[in-house]
Amino acid sequence: MKVAVERREATSGSFDASVSGVLERSEKDVTLPRQLSREDQLTGGALARAWEGREVRGHPKELTVLFRPDGKGRVAVIGLGRRPLRADTIREAAAYAIQKLKGRGVRTVGFRLAAFVGEGVTSEEAARAIAGGAALGGYEFLRYKSSTEGAVEEVVVALGEEHGREEASLRKALDQELVLVESALFTRDLANTPPNVATPEWLAEEARRLGHEHGLKVTVFDEKKLAEMNCGGLLAVGGGSVHPPRLIVLEYPGGSRSGKTVAVVGKGITFDSGGISLKPSAGMWEMKFDKAGACAVLGILKAAATLKVGPRVIGVMACAENLPGGSAYRPSDVVRTHNGKNIEVLDTDAEGRVVLADGLGYVVEKYHPDEVIDLATLTGAALIALGENIAPFVANSDPLASALLAAGAAVGEPLWRLPLTDVHRDMVKSDVADVRNIVEPRIAGVLIGGVFLENFIGESAWAHLDIAGPAYARKATLKWVPAYHPLGATGFGVRLITRYLLDVGR
Ligand code: BES
Ligand code: ZN
Ligand code: ZN
Repeated sequence: MKVAVERREATSGSFDASVSGVLERSEKDVTLPRQLSREDQLTGGALARAWEGREVRGHPKELTVLFRPDGKGRVAVIGLGRRPLRADTIREAAAYAIQKLKGRGVRTVGFRLAAFVGEGVTSEEAARAIAGGAALGGYEFLRYKSSTEGAVEEVVVALGEEHGREEASLRKALDQELVLVESALFTRDLANTPPNVATPEWLAEEARRLGHEHGLKVTVFDEKKLAEMNCGGLLAVGGGSVHPPRLIVLEYPGGSRSGKTVAVVGKGITFDSGGISLKPSAGMWEMKFDKAGACAVLGILKAAATLKVGPRVIGVMACAENLPGGSAYRPSDVVRTHNGKNIEVLDTDAEGRVVLADGLGYVVEKYHPDEVIDLATLTGAALIALGENIAPFVANSDPLASALLAAGAAVGEPLWRLPLTDVHRDMVKSDVADVRNIVEPRIAGVLIGGVFLENFIGESAWAHLDIAGPAYARKATLKWVPAYHPLGATGFGVRLITRYLLDVGR
């Protein structure tokens, strides 16, 4: 999908459809809001009649499509729900409109910016939300589809006379927004790729390709190298698969002299069967998404390099396939990790923390980053606690935590912070090794993951994002996730962390 900002009027008749937003009506709003009078004119008064007849009420996910009597395409109105208007609502509405216009012969869409601005949402925020929402919402993973229905091909944020003078500044904002979005879509493509294709070595190839495109240094440690490096966690988890583990490191040198180094570490389990602690077969297929954290790391590096963010960014992908087999690791194994700490494995299905132990241990030893942010589909508990729209996280630094909360809220990838306490730290102590990878009974799963990982982050400020909920959109609950998260991998974390990197570099 092509997305652009133009001076053109959305209602000029040069689009297959114009789209305007409308807030939910209250009882006293008997006549059509004045901002839509142009749209009404073009429908020959049909829009005002639809409003008066309560066909149009401005409810969320209410898309009204009317044909223009002059034959120049359609006028569409999308509900924005109740006041106050928020950028995220616009992002959702744009995504939803694009999805609903699919397969109806609409190839080009002009969003009328003036009909989305106001009520505390600036023209820049609205333009970003429209463009981002349309591109994120219109995404489909089509690599393995032989044919598809006609999707919207071109979206224009139409400034018209109201916002024409802001063209230059809005174009600049949109260029940045589209890099964030394209990087998220790149991550979706990676994470949606099935595990028979997307092996750890395949992810390494993708990293090399990205590095080549953007002039990033990429280092891939294979199983032989990992053995020399004492990365017993990655080797243990990957032991049951014929596709050996990889530790992948990408370096973006940083655009400013401010000198901050941020490490971004992702869980890259290309398939998580649970291993010897085998998962039930129902729904097991979803564990192809267990590499979403590592895929987000690639997307973040792509965006960081394209936008030349201030900080130096080190991307780390801890990749392995977790399968049962003759050489698989087993419950009660003790594995020695890169930083010398030993893990007692009591459940081979708590494998993410075991590979991250090596990924984190390596990056803090080698680069001494100021900050470490890890992204992992770590626990079902994260999904139980906060659902699919919000990711729980833990952090040992208040400034880092608040900056991440703000970035998440700004891009529509919300986070919620949970605590790290000494009681939980005590719970992961092992009887036979330094730490154990599960705690019985299964309580406080997200925190337990957090205090476990804390053993491997050295002196860095650190945040651990458990993205098991929002990393992918599930069919059964699709109607409750934002429309900009269509079915499958969402790329969650890419826009959030890139926003953060842009903001700290300022
Ligand atoms: N990859 C799973 C977590 C997961 C669950 C991600 C649902 C996405 C959706 C992880 O490796 C896992 O199996 N975690 C266990 C941890 C437990 C054994 C401590 C879990 O959540 O049950
Ligand atoms: Zn698992
Ligand atoms: Zn897993």
